[in-house]
Amino acid sequence: MDVMTAVLTRRSRHVLREPAPGDAEFAYLLGGAAAAPDHGNIRPWRWILLRGEDREALGASLASEVPPEQRDRVAGKTLRAPLMAALVFRPAVGHKVPEWEQMAAASSVAYGLMLLLHARGYGSIWRTGRLCESPAAYELLGLAPEERLLGSLDIGTPGGPEAPARRRIGDLADHVTTFTSRHAPAGV
Ligand SMILES: Cc1cc2nc3c(=O)[nH]c(=O)nc-3n(C[C@H](O)[C@H](O)[C@H](O)COP(=O)(O)O)c2cc1C
Repeated sequence: MDVMTAVLTRRSRHVLREPAPGDAEFAYLLGGAAAAPDHGNIRPWRWILLRGEDREALGASLASEVPPEQRDRVAGKTLRAPLMAALVFRPAVGHKVPEWEQMAAASSVAYGLMLLLHARGYGSIWRTGRLCESPAAYELLGLAPEERLLGSLDIGTPGGPEAPARRRIGDLADHVTTFTSRHAPAGV
C-alpha cells in the first residue's frame, strides 16, 4: 500500500475484534512510528498496553469516578477493542524544546502508528475523553507527576459494517496561501 493510499483509506474504526497485534508486532510497528519528526530526539512519550482482563481494572477505576447509574457504561469503555494502547505524554521538563513541540512530536507518533496499523490490516481509533483527566486512571497506570495521558488507541481487526468511505481530497483552498512580499504591509 503506497503512502497516499494508506492516508486516504485509514478511517477510525469503532468495531474492533481479535486479533490485535501481539507485543512483538506492536513493538515492530512502534519502531516505525517512532521515526516521526521529534525536535531534540526526546521521545517524550510512552505507551501502556492493556489486554484481556487487565482492561477491566482500568474500566473499574474510571467507573469509580461517576455516579452509580453510569458505572456499567463507563466501565465498558475499556473493553471495546482487544488491545488498548494508552498514550502517555512524558515531557522533558525544562528542556529547551518547548512542551508544545514535544506534544506535537508525541501526536505525530500516534498518527504514524495508526497508519502503520492500517497498512497491516488492523483498525484503530484514537479516543480521549474521561481517561485523560481521571486521577484514578493516572494512579492505576502509574503516571509520574509530569506525565499526562493523551488518550488511547483502541486497536484490533476491523469488524462490523463495510469499511467507511475513502477520504476525498477536499477543497483546501482556504487552508493554504503563498506569501508574496508584494502584499506585505507598507514599511516592511
Ligand atoms: C486527539 C484525538 C482525540 C480523539 N478522541 C476521540 C474520542 O474520544 N472519541 C471518538 O469517537 N473519536 C475520537 N477521535 C477520532 C476522531 O473523531 C476521528 O479521527 C475523526 O472523526 C475523523 O475520522 P477518521 O479518523 O475516520 O478520519 C479522536 C481523534 C483525535 C486526533
